[in-house]
Amino acid sequence: MAVIPVDIAGRPYEVHVGSGLLPRLAEIAGPRLRKRRVPIVTDANVHAACASMVDAALAAAGHEAAWRVLPAGEASKSWNQLAATVDWLLAEEVERGDHIIALGGGVIGDLTGFAASILKRGCNFIQVPTSLLAQVDSSVGGKTAINTPAGKNLVGAFHQPALVLADLDLLNTLPRRELLAGYAEVVKYGLLGDARFFDWCVAHGAAMLAGDADLREQAVAHSVAAKAKIVKADERETLGLRALLNLGHTFGHALEAQTGFSDRLLHGEGVALGMILAARFSARRGLITAAAADRIAAHFADVGMASEIATLGLNCDGQALVAHMLHDKKMDAGTLPFVLMKDIGEAFLAKDVDLAEVATFLGDQLTR
Ligand code: GLY
Repeated sequence: MAVIPVDIAGRPYEVHVGSGLLPRLAEIAGPRLRKRRVPIVTDANVHAACASMVDAALAAAGHEAAWRVLPAGEASKSWNQLAATVDWLLAEEVERGDHIIALGGGVIGDLTGFAASILKRGCNFIQVPTSLLAQVDSSVGGKTAINTPAGKNLVGAFHQPALVLADLDLLNTLPRRELLAGYAEVVKYGLLGDARFFDWCVAHGAAMLAGDADLREQAVAHSVAAKAKIVKADERETLGLRALLNLGHTFGHALEAQTGFSDRLLHGEGVALGMILAARFSARRGLITAAAADRIAAHFADVGMASEIATLGLNCDGQALVAHMLHDKKMDAGTLPFVLMKDIGEAFLAKDVDLAEVATFLGDQLTR
């Protein structure tokens, strides 16, 4: 097992990564669970898979789970489910010093974290991420949010969890497509700042995805440590450092928007394609070499992910994709910063990108 500290000033916490952690939930959370009833927010799929294990683990330590079970899927990150969840927490008489448990993927973590941030002006929560994407990205760093008709994650708060418990056993039943989508965020840490870790992904990614437990622990622990370092240095994304975690996200956001934020393209699949596009666009600008950009695309193709947007059947031109980008929450005083790459492991924030150039580039990629 690995324990990674996230040393945020005034609110440090630990991320535990390993097998068999969920049955030890009460032991690891320790005195954070200070009452008999423990409020747990989850979704219907995770509840069906994990509730009996959690109930037993809590009962053995003299606790009882109070479950709030939301429908699975992105639609639960809504004002309605937020309000209903907050009302439920109030009915459960949750106090500021209590810890709410978010047991699920990114949707549950984001919604529960936001509810915790506003309940009684801020109470504690524990992230128990059940997807690879949530384990390596969304459960760490304190970004919480819901979606509104105006866009995804536009309403939320920075609110750090008190503890993160990433049980690798939960990945064993994850559909391969979801595992791959989460893997994009693992590769991201190599591409943005650690060329040796990208090499590790090329060497071991396939075996990790196939189920090798040691490799899974290495992948998740390394990713969490990389994110912890960035979040410690730039918690509120004001210094241009945390923004590097958005590598691939601006291009990916346009692809997700064009596919209606649907099952046609999962977030991580959009991020993988977005990182390939960011690398190719960087190569077009004479930054990274074309060979390095090809190497990135080849790795995603090797593990079974789409690496060409021409295969998505998007039925649009480059200008339409750029139009989606203008609604991106990363817009800043009328300009859109892009994370580009000087090399594998050397991402940087470019604030001088001409969107007409991006539209031409995307048009070429759509017909490649
Ligand atoms: N997922 C990007 C971040 O946490 O900053």
